[in-house]
Amino acid sequence: MSDMLLCIAATTPAVRSLYRQVDRAARSDAKVLITGESGTGKEVMARLIHERSQRRTSPLTTINCAGIPDSLLESELFGYRRGSFTGAVRDKQGVLEKAHGGTLFMDEVGEMSLRMQGLLLRFLETGEIQPLGSESAGRDVDVRVIAATNRQLEHDVNSQSFRLDLYYRLKVVHVHIPPLRERTDDILPLLEHFMTVYCERYQAPKRVISAQAIECLRNCSWPGNIRQLKNVAERLVVCAEDGPITVEELPLDLHGVAAEADDRTAPTQPARADALFDRMINGGESFWLAVYGPFMLRDLTRDDVRLIVRKGLVKSHGNYMRMLQTFNMPADDYKRFLNFLRKHQCQLSFQPFRSEAPARLAQPIETPPSRLAEAE
Ligand SMILES: Nc1ncnc2c1ncn2[C@@H]1O[C@H](COP(=O)(O)OP(=O)(O)OP(=O)(O)O)[C@@H](O)[C@H]1O
Ligand SMILES: [Mg+2]
Repeated sequence: MSDMLLCIAATTPAVRSLYRQVDRAARSDAKVLITGESGTGKEVMARLIHERSQRRTSPLTTINCAGIPDSLLESELFGYRRGSFTGAVRDKQGVLEKAHGGTLFMDEVGEMSLRMQGLLLRFLETGEIQPLGSESAGRDVDVRVIAATNRQLEHDVNSQSFRLDLYYRLKVVHVHIPPLRERTDDILPLLEHFMTVYCERYQAPKRVISAQAIECLRNCSWPGNIRQLKNVAERLVVCAEDGPITVEELPLDLHGVAAEADDRTAPTQPARADALFDRMINGGESFWLAVYGPFMLRDLTRDDVRLIVRKGLVKSHGNYMRMLQTFNMPADDYKRFLNFLRKHQCQLSFQPFRSEAPARLAQPIETPPSRLAEAE
């Protein structure tokens, strides 16, 4: 398993049931739809299914369908031929072709446009791919598709933003991962597992957890699920103090017993956003360290991040590429940065910030497909 942190100890009923579903899915070759809130481990489960299936010796490729313009998603999926658009200087295989004999994991499948849903459905029905710009007949590929979403696709089907026929095609086997707050017995084993791994990684001594801290951890609503728990474990190991772990050492958002649904809706603090912005502009700290890390640890709200992005847009005259420099990130981080902003609904329109900009700075948010494809 590529993820060194995978916890496969099936100690609780919820995990046992999950692994039974995974094994059942791994035995067949049917398409799988994995549902669950963000951070519950959908990608981890998709990898497990692939690695326990007969396809395990062939590749597993992944594609995230969120926030990618159609043209790019289409070329990433089906590939393209040289010359099919400006910048397509050589042929490129799509993820479907790369996964031949293996599995394609399609993350956030609910974010696809209706047009892309149509193209995917056609592939699922014919097994044939036609790279962009190719004039020859389509090529058959043998790929098992595992899709994941944190959306309630039934609602999207009802509102006609997700095709019913595609929904049924993808959901032949359904694996649902319950949120952590519904399986509180898993919290401690997972936390201990992660802490053991991080203690080894950081050469830190193992510590016990006080009874009050355990109570607090069990009562938290864990909106970020396992991802949040993993971050808490890392923080507890990195910021280790002496003696048992106390409630005071836990991140602030875990203190309130049975925290409300999502702390990211908490009121924003302009002073905090200003301070972080200042750390990047004057302190040379990178966005990943100053903003991304605290946001993932839930120490920052979505509105804080929006405020920081807004300030960045003012400074860069509405140019996201230039904002990378402002926030001390290398140009190669462009795709990762935009994906992060889109995923967490923190990407603001650049238009209002363009008016003050010199014309030569004007550049759309979307980079041409070739550029993003190469930025992988
Ligand atoms: N069973 C598990 N054992 C160990 N680590 C796990 C497990 N499940 C999830 N994780 C860890 O939690 C984090 C989130 O997992 P993953 O990316 O699979 O979640 P997700 O449901 O796909 O989230 P999102 O919807 O945000 O994409 C990852 O760092 C992953 O390694
Ligand atoms: Mg995921």
